Amino acid sequence: MHITVIGTGYVGLVTGACFSKMGHKVYCVDIDEGKINGLKKGVLPIFEPHLGTMVINAQEKGDLIFTTNIKEALDDSNIIFIAVGTPMSKDGSANLDYIFSAATDIANNISKDSLVVIKSTVPIGTGFKVRDHIESILEDMGSSIKIDIASNPEFLKEGRAIEDCLHPDRVVIGAEREEVFDILKDLYYSFVLNHDRFVLMDVKSSEMTKYVANAMLATKISFMNEIANICEVTGANVQQVRLGIGSDRRIGYDFIYAGCGYGGSCFPKDVQALINTSKSHGYYPRILSDVEEVNNNQKMVLVNKVVDRFGDDLEGITLSIWGLSFKPDTDDVREATSIVVISELIKKGAKIKAYDPQASEEFKKAIGDEYLSSIELVENRYDALDNSDGLILITEWKEFRYPDLDLLEEKLNQKVIFDGRNIYDKKIEKQGFELFQIGC
Ligand code: UDX
Repeated sequence: MHITVIGTGYVGLVTGACFSKMGHKVYCVDIDEGKINGLKKGVLPIFEPHLGTMVINAQEKGDLIFTTNIKEALDDSNIIFIAVGTPMSKDGSANLDYIFSAATDIANNISKDSLVVIKSTVPIGTGFKVRDHIESILEDMGSSIKIDIASNPEFLKEGRAIEDCLHPDRVVIGAEREEVFDILKDLYYSFVLNHDRFVLMDVKSSEMTKYVANAMLATKISFMNEIANICEVTGANVQQVRLGIGSDRRIGYDFIYAGCGYGGSCFPKDVQALINTSKSHGYYPRILSDVEEVNNNQKMVLVNKVVDRFGDDLEGITLSIWGLSFKPDTDDVREATSIVVISELIKKGAKIKAYDPQASEEFKKAIGDEYLSSIELVENRYDALDNSDGLILITEWKEFRYPDLDLLEEKLNQKVIFDGRNIYDKKIEKQGFELFQIGC
């Protein structure tokens, strides 16, 4: 099939690359010329394992074409995917400016009846609004072109995006006509070979499914973070409790790891947007509001532990940070706990030495100039420890799992470790380290 994917952000780029890998011809369209020129040369705007090689190989074969010319793409495509960003507005709702601007571009450049599929995460009812928007522009131009709309949310995780996209647990398709389901099933046929993983439904339910998946996962995490806080005050150990409950198959082991809060481009934004949608329809969602509040508080847990240990005035204290990205294997720092922890510690007078395998540049852009003069970003994890009074682990990159404890002892002024992801074994306390963890 010939496909246009509008938007070369995380989802658009990964989707385009994966469709081309499966033998479809894909046009990836973006209005950002710099980005498209970079991609043509194989320069990726994001760090994601395996994506670079896929993009280069698919372009060499002619299966993946990056362009700013939407007309050229639409003329040669049977299906149009919208995969632009839907960032959070100030009031917590999803900002749909990019969606409607893509819809306008489609209307102004389309030359035949087309299927428009929304992959971006959009509030319930957006699909129909997009179709009406395109058709009203077409009508004004005297065109009789007809549009079908479908919803096909993406469930990939950063850092495992290619694997998730090529081997999805399920492919959710929301549409109104059998023919549309059939087209999209054909498109995904090779992704779900030998397993019927299609879940077919109406458009609004499909849009809702994406929010509910993320909200349910965020709820599991906030629930466990709350349990971790209760474990701390009662003397129980959340790690043991996790194993105790995860073994019940109705609960499962996934997404019940307590830590210093969830971040990323999806959970915080989508929980807020669902709260917002719900309120705009007159329903106040209690659980979702608490999920968000518990998470905001959880991002402060490490700061509170530092204050308990060193006092509220951190003037003269230097702290080392391991991990800045919102999770391992990505350079994404959106809504990352590191931003909250580091800015709060600096406000209290601390100096920071930080290391991340990939995210330092993104972190520098995100943290704000007022804090940068108090932060030294280093290239090696052990360089972050020189003359420091304690180590704070925020992101559990693999290279942090088995630190050289002799080197830690040699470099740190005080043998203090705050482990925000519970990756260290309590037995390091036997070597004289003070270990502060979450809920244990
Ligand atoms: C998430 C969803 O998993 C994915 O399906 C959706 O398409 C986009 O949002 P992503 O944001 O890439 O993916 O990361 P994910 O691996 O889900 O982690 C999100 C956050 O939750 C991270 O900050 C992580 O550290 C945190 N987390 C995850 C926990 O604190 N505890 C857990 O048990 C699991």
